[in-house]
Amino acid sequence: MVYLALMWSTRDRQHIWHPFTQMKEWLKTDPIIIQKGRGNWLIDVNGKRYLDGVSSLWTNVHGHHHPKLNKAIRKQLHNIAHSTFLGLSNTIAIEFAHELMKWVPQKLSRLFYSDNGSTAVEIGTKIAFQYWQQQGNPTLRSKTKFIAFSNAYHGDTLGSVSLGGMDLFHRIYDPLLFKPIRLPFPYPLQEKRSIEESELAALSQLETTLKLQGHEIAGLVIEPLMQGAAGMVHSSHSFLQQVRTLAHQYNVLLIVDEVATGFGRTGAMFACQKAGIEPDILCLAKGISGGYLPLAATLTTETIFEAFLGEHSDDKTFFHGHTYTANPLACAAGLASLQIFKQEQTLDKLQPKIKQLQAGLIAIAQLKGVAEVRQEGFMVGIELRGGDPALRMGARVCEAAIAKGVFLRPLGDVIVLMPPLSLSKKELELLLETTKACIISSYGH
Ligand SMILES: Cc1ncc(COP(=O)(O)O)c(C=O)c1O
Repeated sequence: MVYLALMWSTRDRQHIWHPFTQMKEWLKTDPIIIQKGRGNWLIDVNGKRYLDGVSSLWTNVHGHHHPKLNKAIRKQLHNIAHSTFLGLSNTIAIEFAHELMKWVPQKLSRLFYSDNGSTAVEIGTKIAFQYWQQQGNPTLRSKTKFIAFSNAYHGDTLGSVSLGGMDLFHRIYDPLLFKPIRLPFPYPLQEKRSIEESELAALSQLETTLKLQGHEIAGLVIEPLMQGAAGMVHSSHSFLQQVRTLAHQYNVLLIVDEVATGFGRTGAMFACQKAGIEPDILCLAKGISGGYLPLAATLTTETIFEAFLGEHSDDKTFFHGHTYTANPLACAAGLASLQIFKQEQTLDKLQPKIKQLQAGLIAIAQLKGVAEVRQEGFMVGIELRGGDPALRMGARVCEAAIAKGVFLRPLGDVIVLMPPLSLSKKELELLLETTKACIISSYGH
């Protein structure tokens, strides 16, 4: 066992280039190498278990090695693993799309498949752009720009990076990017204002921009209720509602990126529904397959879809597609995941756990090392009193938690808690207690 673990570790360091990782540091470490998953736990090559406190990067919904998900994938494998979606369709992709329509906001009726969150947003952006270019009224064709928010994160392909507003990740690529109109997303703690003041200021700037430039703006892209990668930056339901109203008023398409918030994370199936709004374009990925396989979907209204209909010679086709679009195994996982939501009443069972999480966070919010705790459903950001980024307090707390068998990954000085929805009450207690203990030990009080 020890020999095998050493082999994995050596070969990893020999060949692999890890995402979002300073490899010089990585090469000095003895990486944790996962071999199995059982329920809400990850198990490494040494047999050590880690509670999956971030749902394997916000993807896992019902736990690992779920019998129903496993069975659905095996059954699909018996039929076919993959066939192209260009010029062909496949039964399971149709079935999944049909089922998903029962869960999403009513206005959305068309689904375009891809494989990850970045492409889901990239596709939404291209559809919005092309939609206006294909309008009969020529003045509408000047709608070519996009509004995106400060600290937004929409993925790593160049279109999604253009919309993203995270300087650390994106500044190097600046010469390669298109430039959206960047507006402030409310961040009361950083702005040292109340949430009301912060949201009011952001909305006022949005309204002014739309008044002046609405005629040249194609779409507005937003992460609803929680800006994820920014550090779980929270905004109110009313903020999202007012963004919806303003976009509608100025004839701008609202593109909602629910890659992180979708599939129950906020306590509702989608954050849009929690806030009572309907987007024009909805981007989904991560939890869409229960966290099993790469899959994404960009959903639009029928009106948007119809703008792409025409003769071949009209050149209205949406010329976009990926090799593994609508992969049958991933769609089988997606369909099984929706069935589990229904059969196991996942969202109903989640509500008392959200309350338990909220109650546990009260004690964490009072710790000296904690500046602010932000929660929306099962998504939590614990912002530490960082001060000097070189101290890497977020990383230190997470390293301490990992040593205790709870896998956490920070966003700068923000500790993220985003466990699978299937987490038990006991596991939730462990997650909260470990997080608290590690913040206390890292700050020395
Ligand atoms: C809101 C949001 N959009 C898009 C993405 C990109 O998704 P992916 O990593 O699957 O490309 C992420 C990833 O964290 C995200 O949080």
